[in-house]
Amino acid sequence: MDIEGVLFTESEIQARVGSMAHEVAGHYRDEPCTVVSVLKGGFLFTADLIRHLTMPVSLSFAAVSSYGSGTTSGTLRLDLFPSGLEIRGRRVLLVDDILDTGRTLAFLRDRLIAAGARELKTCVFLDKTSRRTTDFRPDFRGFDVPDVFVAGYGLDFAGSYRNLPHIVAMRPRGS
Ligand code: PRP
Repeated sequence: MDIEGVLFTESEIQARVGSMAHEVAGHYRDEPCTVVSVLKGGFLFTADLIRHLTMPVSLSFAAVSSYGSGTTSGTLRLDLFPSGLEIRGRRVLLVDDILDTGRTLAFLRDRLIAAGARELKTCVFLDKTSRRTTDFRPDFRGFDVPDVFVAGYGLDFAGSYRNLPHIVAMRPRGS
């Protein structure tokens, strides 16, 4: 794969993160919330988003991997999950970089509710609505993206590019 071009510049990303934070803060007002950032990809967006939030924020992390046949149809497994104390009775905001089929966030949402979250909201930066195989809908989302391979701003291609401050579209080499 080669980089085809920039989909969102750093300044477009930062402007959208600021407006999303305003929406999120408007929902919580001054009430505390636990932000659960989905690793690895969600870490950059989470770091930028929470710096704009004005209510008391606790930060936790979760990680999920898929195993079995194929990449999208395998069984999901929890690799990391917050402790019960961080979730029980709390308002929880689940934050990720991209929503694709919706399986990852639906899986984590169900587990966080089972762990006793008092309220569960979801916040994604990119939404590939055309790829959805579940009825999952995020409460807060940044940009809709077409079904192209994207990298940067937390998203990797073969383990690289997560550190780019902008988001690029990739294309197969030579095409
Ligand atoms: C990506 C992304 C989401 C998930 C979305 O993570 O960060 O967590 O896929 O896909 P879904 O909606 O089809 O479940 P990935 O599994 O690539 O892990 P990473 O964040 O560690 O790169």
